[in-house]
Amino acid sequence: MQKIIVLTGAGISAESGLKTFRDSDGLWEGYNIEDVATPEAWQRNPVLVQEFYNMRRKSVMEAEPNTAHYALAKLEEKYEVTIITQNIDDLHERAGSSRVVHLHGIITRSQSSLNPTLTYPIDGWEIKMDDVCELGSPLRAHVVWFGESVPMIETAAALCTTADIFILIGTSLAVYPAAGLIDYVPDGVPKYIIDPHIPYVRGGESVTKIEEKATTGVVKLVDDLLSK
Ligand code: APR
Repeated sequence: MQKIIVLTGAGISAESGLKTFRDSDGLWEGYNIEDVATPEAWQRNPVLVQEFYNMRRKSVMEAEPNTAHYALAKLEEKYEVTIITQNIDDLHERAGSSRVVHLHGIITRSQSSLNPTLTYPIDGWEIKMDDVCELGSPLRAHVVWFGESVPMIETAAALCTTADIFILIGTSLAVYPAAGLIDYVPDGVPKYIIDPHIPYVRGGESVTKIEEKATTGVVKLVDDLLSK
C-alpha cells in the first residue's frame, strides 16, 4: 500500500465551526498569545489560561467532524494514511481516521503541570483549579504552549521521510517546527496543498495548489486518489 502523510492545521476544522488562529476573525485576534498560551502566562494567571482552554474544549466537544475529516478517513480504504495534525481537537479521530499524531497535544486530555508525560482523560469539559495530578500538582490542558518543546516532532519528521504522497491542509505554515516538516518529504514525492489562501511554501513550485476550502478541496482530491 502507498503511504500518504497528511499535515493538517486549523483550517480543516474551520467548517466544523472551530475558529482558526490567524484568519481575520481568528483566536489570536481576540487574545494575546503571551496571555494564554505560554508557560509564563500559566505562572502569572493560571485561572485565565485554564478558562481559555476550558472554552476551547467546550467548543470542540460541541463540534462535529466535517466532510473533509470524513474524506481523509475514507482514504484508508486504499492507502496507508497517517495524519499529523497541529490541531488540538479530536475531529480526525471522531471521523474514523486510525493513525493520528497530535503535534500540539489534544484538548480532551489534561496534563500534570509538573511532568508533561502524565496525561489523563477529562470528565466533562472543564478542568478545575483544584484538580491535581498523581504528584499533587495542578492539572492544565494537554497542549503545547509557545516556548515549550514539541515532543512528537521527531516521530512526525520520520513519518514525512516515508511519504509516497504528501498533503497539506488548512495551515498558514507560520509556526515551527511543524512548518518545517515538508522539508523531510523526499524530492519527487507528489505534494498537494489545500487552502483558500495558499500560504508561502518553500519549494512550492513542485506543490500542486488547490485553492479551495477543505470541504470541497479535500473531498475532490480524495475522490481522485481513490479512483487511481
Ligand atoms: N478550509 C481550509 N483551510 C482554511 C479554511 C477552510 N475552510 N479556512 C481557513 N483556512 C486556512 C487559512 O487560509 C490559513 O492558511 O487555514 C489556515 C489557518 O492558519 P492558522 O490560523 O495559522 O492555523 P494553523 O496553521 O493551524 O496554526 C498553527 O499556531 O497558535 C497556533 O498552536 C496553534 O496549532 C496552531 C499553530
